[in-house]
Amino acid sequence: MSSDEVTRLLRTAYQDEIETVMNYMTNSIVLDGVRAEEIKESLTADIQEELGHAEQLGQRLKQIGEAPPASAEFVAHQDSLQPPEDTTDVLSVIEGVLDAEEDAIETYRSLIDAAEEAEDHVTEDIAVTILADEEAHRTEFRGFRTEYASD
Ligand SMILES: [Fe+2]
Ligand SMILES: [Fe+2]
Repeated sequence: MSSDEVTRLLRTAYQDEIETVMNYMTNSIVLDGVRAEEIKESLTADIQEELGHAEQLGQRLKQIGEAPPASAEFVAHQDSLQPPEDTTDVLSVIEGVLDAEEDAIETYRSLIDAAEEAEDHVTEDIAVTILADEEAHRTEFRGFRTEYASD
């Protein structure tokens, strides 16, 4: 069992994960300086996790008789995650990552509720597992923000 709302949220989450991969990769490449090294490493590791999330969501869409969107339907919205003009401005990237993770957390919470409502327990389980990953990312970047804001 599934529902239109479950499908809509799966497709939204899929697109957001792809946009996250793009912006984490760009930021992990463009940042400069000794202080940026730890952030760049963390982003590089997260890229693989976010890509894995997209893959799971896409496979789930297929399993419920739907399909993940492709680039023609893509609408970008991660404004705060655009690479900073000053490539040593690590804090701006940290804030952008936190916005993206908060947004993902909100989407997965909604997906959990919609899947529960539709008695789609497999989607619910996937959303709970991914939610745990996003909360871990948020915790890590909150730690980075604390460190950078105190300098
Ligand atoms: Fe993700
Ligand atoms: Fe994440």
